[in-house]
Amino acid sequence: MTKRRYRKLVARRLSPDFATAVDIVEENLPALSADQILIRNQFAGINAGFDTLLCRGEVPYVNPTPPFDLGVEAVGTVEAVGSAVTAFQVGDAVATTQRGHGYREYQVIRSDLAVKIRAATPEILTLMPTGISALVGLEQVGEMRTQETVLVTAAAGGIGHIAVQLAKLAGNHVIGTCGSGAKAKLLRTLGCDRVINYRQENVQDILSQHYLDGIDLVFDCVGKHMFDTGVDHLAVKGRFVVVGFISEYGKVLENVTRPRIYEKLFWKSASVRGFLLPRYAEHIPTARDRLLDLYYSHQLQVSVDPKIFQGIDSIPSAVNYLLSGQNCGKVVVRY
Ligand SMILES: NC(=O)c1ccc[n+]([C@@H]2O[C@H](COP(=O)([O-])OP(=O)(O)OC[C@H]3O[C@@H](n4cnc5c(N)ncnc54)[C@H](OP(=O)(O)O)[C@@H]3O)[C@@H](O)[C@H]2O)c1
Repeated sequence: MTKRRYRKLVARRLSPDFATAVDIVEENLPALSADQILIRNQFAGINAGFDTLLCRGEVPYVNPTPPFDLGVEAVGTVEAVGSAVTAFQVGDAVATTQRGHGYREYQVIRSDLAVKIRAATPEILTLMPTGISALVGLEQVGEMRTQETVLVTAAAGGIGHIAVQLAKLAGNHVIGTCGSGAKAKLLRTLGCDRVINYRQENVQDILSQHYLDGIDLVFDCVGKHMFDTGVDHLAVKGRFVVVGFISEYGKVLENVTRPRIYEKLFWKSASVRGFLLPRYAEHIPTARDRLLDLYYSHQLQVSVDPKIFQGIDSIPSAVNYLLSGQNCGKVVVRY
């Protein structure tokens, strides 16, 4: 029996800190229109970087005015369908990636925005949209080839652990950076050729000593020193993809004074490329289908962080947990 009231997380005010920006709101389930379905969300993915920047009002392509709903990807079960919906039935397992639809117990959504999946498991959240970002970022932005050297930072994280495997599947030598022994172990099981635990080894030194021809493709989620190191070590015609700069989220951006970056890129014909998945929307459906195929055919191992976050109330802690850098794989909340 569908509950008539449900809870969700709403950003009530802009704030430097996610937890102080949000409140839990309880409301009635809305009525369904003909083309909509009602989904009971069972798991949602935590995107702490995006969440934090959104609540600070620092996502220029969105910048919603409070109050606004939060959370993006969710998996769950269809509980009701509108009168014109033929593609879904009550009981179907589905995934959605609509902004504002993740941090809530129930969602009503147009049926064409939901994707049928085999089962509503948290593992799907590593693929949509996180894995899609890895695939599109590597291929469309990074022009990933084969038999090249690829460096992935935050390689044991949600997006990183998928990027590592996709780069390996494409036939590349993959270097992955991470910040703990447990993460290093995960990366070795995923086939990463050179794991660098940056708390034990110096990334700059290792690249200088062992990668004299440089790095062909850098997929950087971290920013700051990782950005500097990656740019310094780009190969001739190397491509550096700015996937994120999580080391600076929730902080005032560091000012740096140094020669302009063109001096580093010009002599190598190298490039630095910004990447934001919504700007590559046309590639999403194909990437999603390819990732689901890889996952269902056991060619892709996915990692959900084992720490349990239960319920809407736990989301601020989950955001802090991810920003603290402790997670191994995708952080999810269960409802
Ligand atoms: N461009 C896009 O469209 C797009 C889409 C999705 C996500 N992203 C970006 O991808 C990055 C990863 O996101 P995710 O959700 O998958 O997170 P995640 O990688 O699961 O978690 C973040 C990881 O970053 C690493 N990290 C390194 N330095 C850090 C620091 N100073 N503070 C916090 N974390 C640090 C930590 O791992 P280690 O300590 O092991 O390095 C941490 O576990 C973020 O920058 C995010 O904004 C971009």
